[in-house]
Amino acid sequence: MLAREVRLRWRTCTLRLLVLCLAFFLCTHFMAELRRKSWPQADLLLKVQPREPGIFIEGHDRRAEEVPSKRQVIYVRRSSSRGGGNSNVPKRDNLKPVRWQIDLQPWAGPSHSLDEEATRFLKYISKPQIVCSRPVTNGLTEKSEDGIKPWTICLDPKFSLSYQIKNKQCRVYSLGLGEDDSIFEVNMATSGCEVHRFDPSLGSAHIYEGERLWHHRLSVDWRDPKPISPPHRLHSNTKKLGAILNEFGHWKIDVLKADMESAEWKILENMILEGIVEQIGQLVVEIHLHWPGFEVSGNDSTVVRFWYSLFKELERKDFRLFHTYKDLSKPQMFLKKEAFNASSCYILSWVNTRWS
Ligand SMILES: *[C@@H]1O[C@H](CO)[C@@H](O)[C@H](O)[C@H]1NC(C)=O
Ligand SMILES: *[C@@H]1O[C@H](CO)[C@@H](O)[C@H](O)[C@H]1NC(C)=O
Repeated sequence: MLAREVRLRWRTCTLRLLVLCLAFFLCTHFMAELRRKSWPQADLLLKVQPREPGIFIEGHDRRAEEVPSKRQVIYVRRSSSRGGGNSNVPKRDNLKPVRWQIDLQPWAGPSHSLDEEATRFLKYISKPQIVCSRPVTNGLTEKSEDGIKPWTICLDPKFSLSYQIKNKQCRVYSLGLGEDDSIFEVNMATSGCEVHRFDPSLGSAHIYEGERLWHHRLSVDWRDPKPISPPHRLHSNTKKLGAILNEFGHWKIDVLKADMESAEWKILENMILEGIVEQIGQLVVEIHLHWPGFEVSGNDSTVVRFWYSLFKELERKDFRLFHTYKDLSKPQMFLKKEAFNASSCYILSWVNTRWS
């Protein structure tokens, strides 16, 4: 009798537990579905949050991978329906062989002198290689105002950027070291681009400023962070551009603007070696010539030959210079000398013609 009662009670208990479990499962499933569908803006910020080395959380990681990949699918579908245009943008190829060094160009002349190298290099950076019928400076159609650096992009309809902006499918990366104004970034965001500004001097890790403008406390580097680093370096957040793209789930950048105070040479080299430049539509870079730059070594003629070789690598990847600007407000120095009528600072703009 007692045994029967116990059995009966046990059975009801199990039944209740089962119903409860089912209800819970349905509830969580429904919530997850709802969240995935609504996908609010605030979520986007969460999604791009890069993992910090010390605090690695499984769930967070899975989520970070999941959302961007979904976004990519949407992107591909849209651009292919438009036909032509961006459909020839190569996707990241993980099997691409990694190169270890760039191909150096032959010396400019038999004596390997600085004179020959500087002449060839300066001639190269002062002559646009392609005509852009609609150069636009700082995201404004008018000419630049005083004291503002003229960051120039090309909205010539023969390149895809103008369509990308019109369709609000454009992405801008801006690499800087906290010295610049952000007129270019604000204007690009206002005109419809998703703008990511990377600046290690920011107060907090990620700030969403509105109008599609994000700030990230990250510095773009040409090396991987050292695996064994002192604890205070854990939060220094320097990353290679390829790593940032991977983490954010981005596979293309329509405009990359960089003002890296002489780190541009090694960053450019790293982007070429890892095949990242192929994912970039237009490249607007301030170059610094008053010294060789971070981790660039050799005598003066070797340095200038290296700079020149980097640009020839870009040319080989079908990048063409469409705008060059010589900054006369900066010291007129070339490798610590007043020579060759050169400035220490130029802003160069390239378009990747494989994208058009
Ligand atoms: C600079 O170094 C390179 C390679 O080491 C050498 O071939 C070249 O002659 C040197 N140039 C000058 C001007 O010393
Ligand atoms: C030196 O550069 C300035 C500014 O680019 C230019 O106007 C001038 O003609 C150049 N001088 C020579 C001698 O090439």
